[in-house]
Amino acid sequence: MKDLSSRSAQFTDSVIRRMTRISMQYNALNLSQGFPDFDPPKEITDKLAEIAGPGPHQYSITWGAPNFRAALAEKQSLYMGRAIDPEKEIVVTCGSTEAMMVAMLTVTNPGDKVIVFSPFYENYGADAILAGAEPIYVPLVPPEFHFDADVLETAFKQNPKALILCNPSNPCGRVFTRPELETIAALAAKYDTYVITDEVYEHIVYAPHKHIYFNSLPLMFERTISCSSLSKTYSITGWRLGYIIAPERIIEAAKKVHDFLTVGAAAPLQEAAVTGLRFPQEYYQSLLAEYTEKRSIFVTGLRDAGISHIAPEGAYYVLADISEYGCKSDLEFCEALAREVGVGAVPGSSFFREPVNHLIRFHFAKKNETLYEALNRLESMRKKMLKH
Ligand SMILES: Cc1ncc(COP(=O)(O)O)c(C=O)c1O
Repeated sequence: MKDLSSRSAQFTDSVIRRMTRISMQYNALNLSQGFPDFDPPKEITDKLAEIAGPGPHQYSITWGAPNFRAALAEKQSLYMGRAIDPEKEIVVTCGSTEAMMVAMLTVTNPGDKVIVFSPFYENYGADAILAGAEPIYVPLVPPEFHFDADVLETAFKQNPKALILCNPSNPCGRVFTRPELETIAALAAKYDTYVITDEVYEHIVYAPHKHIYFNSLPLMFERTISCSSLSKTYSITGWRLGYIIAPERIIEAAKKVHDFLTVGAAAPLQEAAVTGLRFPQEYYQSLLAEYTEKRSIFVTGLRDAGISHIAPEGAYYVLADISEYGCKSDLEFCEALAREVGVGAVPGSSFFREPVNHLIRFHFAKKNETLYEALNRLESMRKKMLKH
């Protein structure tokens, strides 16, 4: 038989999602794939129950149900500091995952270059391959994960069509500062480059750090495709609700790409999620307070267990340093960790372009009791894993 597409041969299945399957196989506490084990807000699930009968059950408008877009525009206008037009500047997608793919397909032609900071959320590599774009990787250097402005400019000189900005960043937890974002903005303007942002952790930024929406920087709205989702903010990763916010010119093209990729996000789930989008600001404050507590529990526990790690500025991941174990493969280390210690983690190498093999990623979007149990198990990590 003829070969399958070379496109699909260029990437492996997701290592993150593979680690979830491995965690299940060994009955390990799954701190690999980032999703909560606690319930979404009751008001949202109550609303879902209420509409189970009456619906909506049919397609919504392809670029999003009008009431969902209206509620989203109102919320994001407040946070982004400009009036977002729900008719012209929003496309509702199946998660930020689809939003990012739509953004790539909307902005790039096959052969175009895109700048990607490394480490990066693994979807971006596959997105680039699927779109036929060629990534130019710019390192964020551990443990601070800063970029070198000269190295970044060298990348811009290669005439990229877009830069992908994950902020707050998964996996490294960086929250870019205003001067850093201004450096990117100045280069994007100088080299006429689009900026595709992934801001799914926009509400999970630990004090004193602050989230700055890239599109809110002077003159940046016109060249920014802001992607985000409801997955993390309302603990509904399985609902697959995301969105793109961008200027009308870009949204017009993105609507078409989205329509032919998925037609639309699930209508009843959009309807129920409007309840969340209309939550008062206190909701986001208490979400952050909860994650701040989880972060503190987890990093304190790691420290007490003698596991060296990098505490995040935003998002809900911690990179732990496994250099002392001297293992050749961080993937094998993570498999052994799930099997012998009973905790699932993601090998850091799946996020880095550079040959980084000494970091593994845990997430702490779990009930406090789950975190305490995981920490309990991790206390034996050094003893059990040093023999590997
Ligand atoms: C940076 C980043 N972007 C996107 C996603 C996926 O988001 P969604 O569920 O909205 O597709 C994740 C999930 O972990 C993520 O960490």
